[in-house]
Amino acid sequence: MLIEMNKLTKTYGTGDQLVHATQNVDLKILEGDFIAVVGPSGSGKTTLLNLLAGLLGPTSGSILHRGKEIQHLSMEERTAHRLANMGFVFQDYQLLPVLTARENVELPLQMRGMPQKEIDEKTAWAMTQVGLGDKFNRYPRQLSGGQQQRVAIARAVAGRPSLILADEPTANLDSKTAQDIIDLFKRLNEEFKLTFVFSTHDPRLISQVKRVLNINDGQLKEGSHP
Ligand SMILES: Nc1ncnc2c1ncn2[C@@H]1O[C@H](COP(=O)(O)OP(=O)(O)OP(=O)(O)O)[C@@H](O)[C@H]1O
Ligand SMILES: [Mg+2]
Repeated sequence: MLIEMNKLTKTYGTGDQLVHATQNVDLKILEGDFIAVVGPSGSGKTTLLNLLAGLLGPTSGSILHRGKEIQHLSMEERTAHRLANMGFVFQDYQLLPVLTARENVELPLQMRGMPQKEIDEKTAWAMTQVGLGDKFNRYPRQLSGGQQQRVAIARAVAGRPSLILADEPTANLDSKTAQDIIDLFKRLNEEFKLTFVFSTHDPRLISQVKRVLNINDGQLKEGSHP
């Protein structure tokens, strides 16, 4: 078991302005899972991903990562946990424009205090996996949207995290590029057993996952496979 959420609730606001962004969510995620969280705008998808990441603390309930409770961690412990265990992919890539592709991929590894030799190996491995072994020294602005997303994926997987969270990762891509990125996620899942949780509206991605979770008004339900 990779993740276990028990009655996890996240409430925003105070007084009569409460928003229950997630409500009593029970969820088990297995190692090697490949999951899409699907629901309308404002239903709680990003909140759920942020709770999984340990970026947000829940209002109530517990969350276990490989059997260890993470909801009571201090800010510092949370950050260390995230760096060691999580990879992130965003809709708008979120690469640092002043860093090259290589430097973007290296940054989270450096923040973990990894020796440079290991950083070099992991960066080369990740850039090769995403098909950008020849574009190490390009800046984000010198890359297409699809290539920038590949760099972001390299950055997310380089440290071999136990969980990769991707919030609408294909939303900014044209249809052909989106399909290529989906195929890449699928291969990384099958070949390296990397665990992915996507938030998405993209029917192409939804049709490729192993598990669909439907979220509505913060309530999660296991969906039938597309
Ligand atoms: N920091 C915050 N403060 C107050 N309310 C928030 C905050 N973040 C999210 N919410 C509210 O919580 C609910 C869930 O938001 P969330 O961003 O998780 O939805 P989402 O499913 O990701 O939506 P979208 O598809 O538009 O990205 C919404 O009603 C939103 O307005
Ligand atoms: Mg969102």
